[in-house]
Amino acid sequence: MTRDDDLLVRAFRREPTPRPPVWLMRQAGRYLPEYMEVRRKAGGFLEMAQDPELAAEITLQPIRRFGMDGAVLFSDILMPLQAMGMPLQFVQGKGPVLDKPLRSIDDINALAPLEPEDDLAYVGESIRRVRAELPEGCTMLGFCGAPYTLASYAVEGGTSRSHAITRQMMHQDPGAFDALMGRLAGAVGAHLAYQVEQGAQAVVLFDSWAGALSRDDWMRHCRDFSAAALEPVLGKVPVMAFALGGQHLYDDLVGLGVDALVVDWRMPLGEAFERYGDRVALQGNFDPAWLLGTPDEVARRARAMVDEVGGRPGWVMALGHGVMKETDPEAVAAFVEVAKNATVGASA
Ligand code: CP3
Repeated sequence: MTRDDDLLVRAFRREPTPRPPVWLMRQAGRYLPEYMEVRRKAGGFLEMAQDPELAAEITLQPIRRFGMDGAVLFSDILMPLQAMGMPLQFVQGKGPVLDKPLRSIDDINALAPLEPEDDLAYVGESIRRVRAELPEGCTMLGFCGAPYTLASYAVEGGTSRSHAITRQMMHQDPGAFDALMGRLAGAVGAHLAYQVEQGAQAVVLFDSWAGALSRDDWMRHCRDFSAAALEPVLGKVPVMAFALGGQHLYDDLVGLGVDALVVDWRMPLGEAFERYGDRVALQGNFDPAWLLGTPDEVARRARAMVDEVGGRPGWVMALGHGVMKETDPEAVAAFVEVAKNATVGASA
């Protein structure tokens, strides 16, 4: 079965669509009561994400409630690190914790190779289950963390603001850093290819923390590894790239040959279209903090966005980052409604 005429796929190809397609990063999660219900029963995040029945159910929850045009697999960018032998926990109030961070070439050499069809078989089964239940026209989205973003978690042992230890390794022990990035590029490429083979119809490369780096460091130490990670899927399905606070890298991300750039809320969308709109589709970039307003206010601001860029081919209506857990589901409903009622070039 081909789903070539899904709105989202058409937008990624920069073909005209009757209205902008819409999906949201973190559209499944803690702001949804039905998610919290599953989580209470399951115990924790990993228990849900690694159980294909629960992962498929949670992936579909926002689709059933709001009717987005894309369903993003309920999983996490850190699963491949766990599969390569790094103990991983998600600690309430703290986020991901990797107890044995990689600090030397010996630690890096001890990583297991990633065999997605064995180590991440639950991902494949989750994708197949979602595909079986996905409403017509809704696109299945897979994803991976980019090598640098994964390296930052593997080296720091969790989320870090400064990336001090990772960047110290990059500068002081570039041989070890390159070895780690090479291992991760291979793992990411294999995992992306596996997701596509199992039914993902488009994929996102999350280089969420690349924005922490200077352009020079990203170009010198990371770019080629991201390119290698994408090589197995470019040209097979649409590929999006995201880097939070990575405006200084957007040109270079587009240069990877991706189909779409996810723009965060810091850059005006009109400016992003001027700079990149002739090369890639653009996805974004509603400030997730606006979703903390009333549904009326969300609808007004979302309509303003449609008025500004809604007529351009190659726009996916989305947030500039993920839905926050404090968000009222009614605000998300209002946002999705604006996309669904929009006609090209005019607000609903
Ligand atoms: O709905 C979706 O977007 C799909 C599922 C998804 C999750 N994480 C689920 C999740 C996706 C695509 C991710 C990607 C991810 N994970 C990124 C890249 C995107 C981005 O946000 O920049 C990053 C950097 C991570 C790492 C990660 N996972 C962090 C920092 C945290 C803790 C912060 C938080 O929000 O709790 C997680 C945990 C996590 N991943 C949760 C979810 C729903 C929260 C789990 C829970 O406690 O219920």
